[in-house]
Formats: sequence, structure tokens, C-alpha cells
Amino acid sequence: MKKYILGLLIVTMLYACTKTNSQMIIQSPDGKIEVKLDLKNNQLPKYAVTYKGDTVIKPSSMGFEFLNQPEMSGFRVVDTRMKSVNKKWTMPWGEQKEVVNHYQEMLVSLQEIKKPKHSMNIRFRVFDEGIGFRYEFPEQPGRDSLEISAENTEFCLTGDHRVWWIPGDWDIYEHLYNETLFSEIDALQFAQHESLAQTYIPYNAVNTPVTMRTTSGLHLSFHEAALTNYPGMTLRVDTENLTMRSELVGSERTEYKAKVSLPFETPWRTIQIAPDATDLIASKMILNLNEPNKLGDVSYVKPMKYAGIWWEMHLDKSTWDLASGRHGATTENAKRYIDFAAENNLGGILVEGWNTGWEKWIGVDNREGIFDFVTPYPDYDINEVVRYAKSKGVEIIMHHETSAAVTTYEQQLDTAYRFMESLGLHAVKTGYVGTIIPKGEYHHGQYMVQHYRKVLETAAHHKVAVNAHEPIKATGIRRTYPNAISREGLRGQEFNAWSSDGGNPPSHLPTVAFTRMLAGPIDFTPGAFNIKLDPYKPDNQVSTTLAQQLALYVVIYSPVQMACDLPEHYKGRPAFQFIRDVGVDWQQTEVLNGEVGEYVTIARKEKETGNWFLGSITDEHAREFALPLNFLDKDVTYEATLYKDAPDAHWDDNPESINIETHTLQATDTLNVQLAPGGGLAVSFMKK
Ligand code: NOJ
Ligand code: CA
Repeated sequence: MKKYILGLLIVTMLYACTKTNSQMIIQSPDGKIEVKLDLKNNQLPKYAVTYKGDTVIKPSSMGFEFLNQPEMSGFRVVDTRMKSVNKKWTMPWGEQKEVVNHYQEMLVSLQEIKKPKHSMNIRFRVFDEGIGFRYEFPEQPGRDSLEISAENTEFCLTGDHRVWWIPGDWDIYEHLYNETLFSEIDALQFAQHESLAQTYIPYNAVNTPVTMRTTSGLHLSFHEAALTNYPGMTLRVDTENLTMRSELVGSERTEYKAKVSLPFETPWRTIQIAPDATDLIASKMILNLNEPNKLGDVSYVKPMKYAGIWWEMHLDKSTWDLASGRHGATTENAKRYIDFAAENNLGGILVEGWNTGWEKWIGVDNREGIFDFVTPYPDYDINEVVRYAKSKGVEIIMHHETSAAVTTYEQQLDTAYRFMESLGLHAVKTGYVGTIIPKGEYHHGQYMVQHYRKVLETAAHHKVAVNAHEPIKATGIRRTYPNAISREGLRGQEFNAWSSDGGNPPSHLPTVAFTRMLAGPIDFTPGAFNIKLDPYKPDNQVSTTLAQQLALYVVIYSPVQMACDLPEHYKGRPAFQFIRDVGVDWQQTEVLNGEVGEYVTIARKEKETGNWFLGSITDEHAREFALPLNFLDKDVTYEATLYKDAPDAHWDDNPESINIETHTLQATDTLNVQLAPGGGLAVSFMKK
């Protein structure tokens, strides 16, 4: 009997202990967001999230599938550690100078109950603006590496939310955003796209950041932070059960999706939670979840505006290749652009098509060895161009179109970057058009994540900043590698020049601001002044007003901003003054209003001068609102130049109709803003 009672006591104690440990809770610093981790009946862990007491994410399971390992099974909690962090750090360049990193952390150490009792930890960080969590596999006996065939992180939604999404393409993010209910997501309809040199959409999945609005008006955006040595994550959608599950990008060359050595940490899975859409843009959570700068002094990274031998190829005025007889990248043309940049406060020029190989760069299966990155075409005297640019104080931005021949590029990396160093060049635009070589790899798989990182590291070694096109998604790595200056990773301006589907509609950028832009800087290449693209592309056009093209310099953040149009299209155009004046590196950013896919207004204060710049853009609907200028510095008087849609402006009927007005304004004033359909407003507030 005694024995029996003792036995019961031990069981009760154990139970009590399991019970207290089985529900672990952590809240955001302001107490509004709460995350609960639950371990029930030896199952895999489940997490759930509430905002102000209302469920945002229903209990959602977490786990993995491995090759050559026993199936992941129930865990017990070994240890739980809580931590509060509230620190400030300074961005070398960015949307703002100082960033506050304020969160509560819960690290839960788990061990499988069944032998061989493998360990896995889950680390949660809860901010006032959302949550991040990641899995950590510590060093452990009998396990030094893992072949991960699936990550099964679920996100169980509470309703049929309105969603702004692009398909979960393993190869490219250059899709238009769709706005549908969650239950209506159908990514597979985009499996073929004639304007894309590569695309692969194997499942009904979306790419991240994916943004949603609940019926009660709460905004959610799902993404990832610190994507390192792991595949990019798409989110497979279950339209019936209103659930998403991580679907890692794979490879045709391996059965696993990721192979990692222990200890290993996955990227952070992130959920931004915001009552107002504007708070999504203001959040620095993704950056905060990344490690601090590990490059040290990055003074070679120069925020700048730039022009380039680029749009003329997309308009087919000239070509990348020499054989056409209309080669764009000639010494003479480069000098013309250098003069243009020097005269107009643009810091650099990009020259595409400068190196041999462009005769056969696209549509060819074997693209290996086509490009090297040191051999100019005979009509491009690179030494002379660099000398001339330096004499005018203009930087030459190098161009490496790899044509996705990654093996070739990796073999040439050192030579290519040493060549740049010998010329004194500190910025490169890279490109990865086409299917990846080695065959069977995708742009967003682990192999390519490693490649893009290798490029950043090599570039940093040679003091070069990288602006990647056809990149891996931005996940805040720019905090750790501040030479990751910008990237494409969306349908850029170029689609307006040649895509056969009508280009980017007016709702594109008001959607991008609340989706793709949450990930990081965008090389969108704004500044089209010849909106209808006449006479080059009579069947294509830009679908915004001229005033919106100006507003984009403020709205769509990048420390490198192109003035994309041809120098002759800026000549004699008073609106070009805004591009001359606008800043690229900011002390402070204020997101003043906006709704996903409809409109957005952002003001930014230039770090160097203290001048403010404002941009406001709208979709195809005209808008009118009063805008208090209380973001401006108190007691300062500004000479404000307003670049506004004229009353008859319209993105399609009359896109270039613009009025420019100058007023003396202060923080106590209010602007009456009127945006035309597809229109915008740009304002420079120069201190008097
Ligand atoms: C695609 C890039 O996005 C574009 O900017 C570039 O001009 C072409 N590739 C050629 O490299
Ligand atoms: Ca592209």
C-alpha cells in the first residue's frame, strides 16, 4: 500500500511538472501579442498567437522530416529560458539612422521522449510589431548533420482573410500581385509565363512576404529573416482548412531540401501583426532578427542616384550585344551618360552590355563560359571610361549578368572582383536570367542561397556593394552584410518596356509597398519621363503619371535609385529637378497613410541635410485627403516644391500632365493632396 501511494505521488509530481512545462507563454513588451507553445500528449510542439486577446494564429504544429533519421516524435521540455532585450543600433545606411531592437525572448529546449532522444530548441522573439521563431539543432551525440526533406511549420489562420500574394515560384519573384480571399488562392494558374526566362511553381503555394487583412481589419504579413545556408521558404496553402505550411524550395539534384551540419539554426519564421497597414512598413523587426554588421567599416558602400546604359536596351533603341550594329555600351555613349550624371547630381552610371558574350546569353541551353567579367567589347575602352568618370566625380557601376551560369561565375568570382578592385570600382549589379546551371537547381534553393552569400562575401573582401537582380529574397541580411545594398526580386520597371501582358498596372506599386518592400530595399528603377515610350515601344507604356514616377523615389526605398530614362527625355523638363534634389540616405522615415494595394504616403528626412522629401502614390483610383505636415521639424521654415498631378492628369489618358508649385511651409501647415488615377505627389521640403 505504502509503495502504491509513493508511486502515485511520483506520477502526480511528474505530471504537475509536465503540466507547468507543457504550456509556455511569452508576451510582447507592450503585452498585446502573446505566443503560447504547447506540448500535448507527446505530440510535436504547437504554437498559437493572440493579439489583444484575440486569436491570430490557431494552434499550429511545428516539425521536420529527415532522410536517414528516425521520424521526429514527441518531445519533452528540458529547459525554458526567458530574456528581455531593449537595445539601439545604428544603420550605416537605411530608412532611418537609429533602430530600436526591443523584444522578449523564450528559448525552449526540447528532447524527444523516444530513444535516441534527439534535441531541438525553439527560440521565440516577440516584438510589439510581431513575432519571429526559429528552430535550433544543437550539437548532440550520434548526430552531426541533417538532411532535411521537409519543414512542416504550420500557420493556421482564423478566417478567410484578404490576401495579397504572388505564386510560390522556386525560380523568380517577378509576378504581379493577386488580391483574393485566402480560399481563392490559385498559384498554379501562373505555372506558365511567356515574359519569364525561368519559372517553376510546383504547388499551390505563395511566396513571402505575403500580406493579409482579417475581417476585423488586422494586418498580418508572413516572411522569414536571416535566410542563411537553407532553402527559401514558400507557403503551401490549404484553401479548405485556411492553413499554410512551410514548403522549402528544393533541387532536382538531391532528395533532401537542405543539408546542414550541427549546430544549426533555421532562418526566423516571421509574422508581422499590425492594426494599421502603415505599421507594416514602419517595422524593423525583420532587420532586428538578423545579426549585427560583421563587415565593420563599409564606407565604400555609397548610397546614390544613378543613370545608366540600360533603359535604352529595354526600349530596343540599342542592344547589349555588338553584332546588332546598335551596341549601347560604347566609350562615347558612356561618356555622354557620365556628363549627364555629373551635371545632375547623380552619383554613378551603370553600363550594361560592356563585356563580350551578349550575342548568345539568352535562350541557349549551354550558357557556361559565355561571359567572363574582364573582357570588354572592342568599342568599350573601360580604362578610359573609368578615368573619365573619376575626373567628373562619377562612379561606374559594374555589371555582371551571369545568365544564371552559376558554376562559371563561381569560377570567375575572384578574378572578376579583383578586376573591379584594380579599376577602383565599388558597386556591381549582378543578374541571373535563365534556368540555373548546374541543371536541376532553382534560384531559391539552398545551393543558390549559399551562392548569393558567397558573392556578398567575395564582394565585401574587395570592397564592393552588390545590387542583385533575379536574387534570393531579402531577409534583412543587409544588417549583417551592409554591402547587400539593394536587389530586384519583383516585377520591376523593365516589365513596362517589354512585357506582353500590359506591364505593371497602377495597383502594382501600392501593393509592393506593403508586400515585397517589407523584406528590404528594391532596385525598382523609377524615373520614366517618357511615359508612353514613344517612339520606341508603341504597344507598351508605363501605367503611372509622371508625378508618381517622382514620388517613387521616396515611397519605394532603396539606397541606390536609378533615374532610368534616357538623358534626352529629361532635357528641358522642370520636373527633373525633383530627381536632382531627392535624398537617398535617411535619418528618419514616417509612413503617413496607406492601405494595401490602394495608396501610400511616406515622408523621409535626409541624413546629410535635414531636408524632408515626401512621396504619395495611388492605384487606378483618384484620391483626395488632407495631410498634416506635423512630421516636419518644429520651428523650421521650408521652401516646399510640390510636383503634383495636374487636374487633367490620368495614368493612361494624360500621364505627363504635372503642375509644379513652390510654397513656404511649416510643421503647423496642412496640405490638401489630390492624386489623379494612377497618380502621385512628390514634395521636396528644403530648409530655408
Ligand atoms: C534582368 C535585369 O533585371 C535587368 O535589369 C537587366 O538589364 C537584364 N537582366 C540584363 O542583365
Ligand atoms: Ca529582372
